[in-house]
Amino acid sequence: TPVPVLCVDGPTASGKGTLAAAVAHRLGYHYLDSGALYRLTGLAARQAQLEPEPVNEAEIAALARQLPVQFRADRVWLAGEEVTEQIRSEAAGMDASRVSALPSVREALLNLQHSFARLPGLVADGRDMGTQIFPFAPLKVFLTADAAQRADRRHKQLISKGISANIDSLRADLAARDARDSSRSVAPLQPAQDALLLDNSQLSVEESVDRVLGWWQARQ
Ligand code: C5P
Repeated sequence: TPVPVLCVDGPTASGKGTLAAAVAHRLGYHYLDSGALYRLTGLAARQAQLEPEPVNEAEIAALARQLPVQFRADRVWLAGEEVTEQIRSEAAGMDASRVSALPSVREALLNLQHSFARLPGLVADGRDMGTQIFPFAPLKVFLTADAAQRADRRHKQLISKGISANIDSLRADLAARDARDSSRSVAPLQPAQDALLLDNSQLSVEESVDRVLGWWQARQ
């Protein structure tokens, strides 16, 4: 039986994670936060004292291929150490963005990402779920929200986790990360040809979830 996969791609802090996790919950499907895998790879590189740079591409890809990672409920461990909060910082996001621009690192994470596709189904969120990882997915959503909204949401999210954050530097970080993610030569951030666009700037989480579930039901 083919595993049904629903992809949610979009830029930083567009609300992908919240939307995708809620949709997965409502459908009783598995959930893949692919950004977490790049964040974990970035952290593993840091711990190995490898700058997330092209000169270290082969070594970082080797780390990514054997990521000693464990997911349980909403928490994640790297080599036995819980790093759930640590990988959420903006610095970790920037490291993730840098390692993710290395083609061998992306390739090294392919199998791990595919392994999340299990019955009864998967909701996968990231930048290239619909274009590269699950190109045959029956539904691909490309989520956007205006830049000010995204910076504001990310700010609230960090504060609520007890992580201090400055709104202006956040705005600059998000813009830098989006620019890198959109301009890289491998798997740049862009909607799949058959993606449905959803701008959630003016929508509540529930409204966005209902919209996506409506699309999903229409495809069954
Ligand atoms: O989604 P999140 O902000 O956690 O992702 C962190 C970084 O990982 C992104 O800025 C992006 O560079 C990279 N990423 C990617 N492809 C994905 C998911 C994330 O390149 N599928």
